[in-house]
Amino acid sequence: MELLSDIYNRNFKSLRISLLNRCNFSCTYCTMGEDDITEHTSIEANNLLDTVKKLHNVLKLETIRLTGGEPLLYHDLVPVIKGIKQLGIEDVKLTTNGFLLERMANSLKDAGMHSINVSLDAMDEDVFFLMSKRSDVQRILKGIEAAQAVGLQVKINAVVMKGINENQLLPLVDYAFSRNIAIRFLEVMAMGHLHNDPLKYLFTENEILNIIATKYNFKKMKRNNSSTANYWQTDSGNVFGIIANESEPFCKDCNRLRLDSEGNMYGCLSSNHPISLKDVNDDEALVEKLQQAMEQKQLVKFVGSDLSMLQIGG
Ligand code: 5AD
Ligand code: SF4
Repeated sequence: MELLSDIYNRNFKSLRISLLNRCNFSCTYCTMGEDDITEHTSIEANNLLDTVKKLHNVLKLETIRLTGGEPLLYHDLVPVIKGIKQLGIEDVKLTTNGFLLERMANSLKDAGMHSINVSLDAMDEDVFFLMSKRSDVQRILKGIEAAQAVGLQVKINAVVMKGINENQLLPLVDYAFSRNIAIRFLEVMAMGHLHNDPLKYLFTENEILNIIATKYNFKKMKRNNSSTANYWQTDSGNVFGIIANESEPFCKDCNRLRLDSEGNMYGCLSSNHPISLKDVNDDEALVEKLQQAMEQKQLVKFVGSDLSMLQIGG
């Protein structure tokens, strides 16, 4: 079968699955707190594996990223990872806030995971609290170190919010470099409750680079296809990246498809229109839905969404 792609040659090679919409953090850019979500949902593991199998059959998926909410709260995480690997999809990754990582690192590795992203927005406890409404940076660091110790490849993601955590850029870079971890800074995206106030907290790629340049010399690296991040390498070989949704959008070669915790698909973070897979019983019907999802992709840049990452996944 001809693999699905659009006239810009974009395809769906990377599937991101929000396993559940529950989280043990309350990041200011993501949620306004418990009231945000009225109903907690999570995908049933066998249903999920069945959906992934059907999608893989049509799309020949290369990568799956498990997100949430917080995926380490998902009860059947280990069987899901194993199940995905058994479908022949080698590259299974995870994005976590790290709170439960110290205790979970070993089982993730055993289940066949190679690589995880840990969100860490501050090294300073007070700033960390401002960002996530939780304390215990040390606990996240222990999680990161446990993951490295069992041989998981770790990347750090840090969302930068103007007026809140830009003073954490250098401490985060220093920590990441000291442990040989690639770190990526994210321009804040106009999602969820930030949708109508998109620029209020924006700290741009250039502003981020200016701060890092006060301490490090670096050169820009070549961008890989479908990468969301631009990367730079310092004179001593350390790598950092910036995911610049606003300043340097990357829609033009986006290859991501999303599945939310109710089993709906989205072709784009900008879209609030869930595409249900409930009545899809054959490949032909699935391809039709995938075409709808493809049409959701933006041409130029992310245009904001009422959904938060809690709902649609990072
Ligand atoms: N803008 C940018 N990044 C966000 N994340 C969640 N919400 C936003 C937002 N509005 C990030 C988290 C995590 C990943 C799941 O998505 O920090 O790294
Ligand atoms: Fe939880 Fe991630 Fe949202 Fe933070 S950004 S509240 S860790 S889902």
